Amino acid sequence: MIERISDSMVDEAGTNGANGGGASRVAESPAKAKQASPVSPQAIESEDSELENSLRPKDFSNYIGQERLKRNLGLAIDAARKRSEPLDHVLLYGPPGLGKTTMANVIANEMGAQIRITSGPAIERAGDLASMLTNLGEGDVLFIDEIHRLNRSVEEVLYSAMEDFKLDIILGKGPSARSLRLDVPKFTLIGATTRTGALAAPLRDRFGIIHRLEFYTHDEIRQIIERAADILGASIQPQAALTLAERSRLTPRIANRLLKRVRDYADVNGDGIIDTVISSKALELLEVDAIGLDPADRMILEAIIESYNGGPVGIETIAALTAEERSTIEDFIEPYLMQMGLIERTPRGRKVTRKAYAHLGKAEPVLH
Ligand code: ADE
Repeated sequence: MIERISDSMVDEAGTNGANGGGASRVAESPAKAKQASPVSPQAIESEDSELENSLRPKDFSNYIGQERLKRNLGLAIDAARKRSEPLDHVLLYGPPGLGKTTMANVIANEMGAQIRITSGPAIERAGDLASMLTNLGEGDVLFIDEIHRLNRSVEEVLYSAMEDFKLDIILGKGPSARSLRLDVPKFTLIGATTRTGALAAPLRDRFGIIHRLEFYTHDEIRQIIERAADILGASIQPQAALTLAERSRLTPRIANRLLKRVRDYADVNGDGIIDTVISSKALELLEVDAIGLDPADRMILEAIIESYNGGPVGIETIAALTAEERSTIEDFIEPYLMQMGLIERTPRGRKVTRKAYAHLGKAEPVLH
């Protein structure tokens, strides 16, 4: 594992979101407590602070980007409202930090519904899910983050709840066991996952609306930064907002984190105004390069180039070479490297591209 930035860069973690009071949340893992750069998986995964929640758009009109998703969801919401029915179950998937939780809150808000927030690993037993479901109100939204991490027995209870709004509960054990069918209020399940491939087909099939969240454009990220600066009362020059946007990995959560770190730098080392000079210096200190790569990204690219002549090389080998977890590489690091055209997936493993050599200033191997 590589060293990441200094103490002052550790992101604020651990406050419960402002949403769904009393909702279950995943326990903080020890790995998350270690030092993290604002673009690292640890920072991306960390719990949202109240400040971050204040930056979240509450409805479609304030939500920048994901135009196709907003159009499709908007239509489904209008139709459900017209029929006075709950919205069909929604599955949102895509890389972390792109706004799946934010979108779930927006959907609940647009439906005029209450939202309960939990996550796959937080629901340990079928009984936990049963009590959550029976406590929902008619039309409420249940948001399950990391839904691919639900255990099988919980998942099975979810099937009939999603399909018929019924709970099948087994009481007792052995020959005297009896089964009981309970009604649950008509609710909407919103599931979020970084990987649809990891979801069991029977679960995936029970979602009526399935959407992928896409990376944002630089211009959308710039608008998100300017909106966040406005909310935070920070003064940022247009060109600096664009520079920050180019280094935010096309991801709003990273954009907001970098903005906060750059604002700190401007407050301490300048007059509080974020211009291009201040933002470049702050980002240099954070070791975030011109296209948003941090030391972990560069280490992966360099490992493939130096140890495997640019690849192809298997993901397990890359994980061993760099001492990063395979899931960290697959979920957090690789999607952006692929989006930027720096890495390719081939049947024989990952390969860096010519663009990666050029970006790192390395000579391509000579083919014989
Ligand atoms: N903050 C985080 N994501 C956002 C988005 N998509 N639009 C506006 N503000 C945001």
